[in-house]
Amino acid sequence: MTTALAPRPDAGTTHGARVRLEGVTRTFGRGRDARPALAVLDVDVAPGELVVLVGPSGCGKSTALNLVAGFLEPTRGRVLVDDVPVRGPGVDRGVVFQQPRLFPWLTVRDNVALGPRLAGAGRRERTELAQATLELVGLPDAGDRRPWELSGGMQQRAAIARALVGRPRVLLMDEPFAALDALTRERLQEELLHLWATTGTTVLFVTHSVDEAAFLGTRALVFSASPGRVVVDHRLRDVPAPGADDARDRDRDDPATAAHREVLRTAVRGSAA
Ligand SMILES: Nc1ncnc2c1ncn2[C@@H]1O[C@H](COP(=O)(O)OP(=O)(O)OP(=O)(O)O)[C@@H](O)[C@H]1O
Ligand SMILES: [Mg+2]
Repeated sequence: MTTALAPRPDAGTTHGARVRLEGVTRTFGRGRDARPALAVLDVDVAPGELVVLVGPSGCGKSTALNLVAGFLEPTRGRVLVDDVPVRGPGVDRGVVFQQPRLFPWLTVRDNVALGPRLAGAGRRERTELAQATLELVGLPDAGDRRPWELSGGMQQRAAIARALVGRPRVLLMDEPFAALDALTRERLQEELLHLWATTGTTVLFVTHSVDEAAFLGTRALVFSASPGRVVVDHRLRDVPAPGADDARDRDRDDPATAAHREVLRTAVRGSAA
């Protein structure tokens, strides 16, 4: 049986959504306690892009992601996913946080299967979906284990599987690799590029690392200090053709990536001033 939730890891077709923030502001608190977190955001993300958000702490990067996820509502403006205003969280948008946030009392497979379960998928269907997605993230044998039996990197892979199980058209990642050791982090960056190229999903990725931003992105949005707005919109590289997997040949040390890194470093320093 196939459902809207079924992952098609081998589909190779672009199915990422367009994401737009139009005149979006967000203020927390009211009256005299009101504090603007986002000055104003006007961003148009093309389907299949991998856009990195960088900027000083507290500038509103997580707030921007939470608005697209539907966890927060804008104070002003609109957030649109494929021309449809966001009205709350949905399976079309997968979210990965800095910490894996897996339920310790569920197996890894049941953690991944939770979204399909809440969406009404039967046991067999959701188990198959979860297993296929665990294979997609390189955890074919981890399904029966508990999260706490996995390494940090494996737990974060499981969290990525949980976000991907609904075959989201947008993947929202908030510093997903920041808590990992350097080697695991590099490996997961490469795996993310592979997953992204395979699924064609649009990715919004928050990071504090300009190295990570320059290596991963098609485009970088550098935020000003709080209240945040985009001060630099820097193109990094093209979106790969559907089905092409350029992740394998991407080189951290190539001169173009190094040059992007310097542009971003300068922009981030300037924005924090
Ligand atoms: N739910 C909330 N209630 C009140 N204030 C909030 C809330 N969420 C965020 N803020 C405030 O909004 C501002 C932006 O926060 P946000 O978490 O988006 O920043 P960030 O860029 O993700 O920072 P960091 O890099 O440290 O993660 C901060 O001043 C923060 O205190
Ligand atoms: Mg944040």
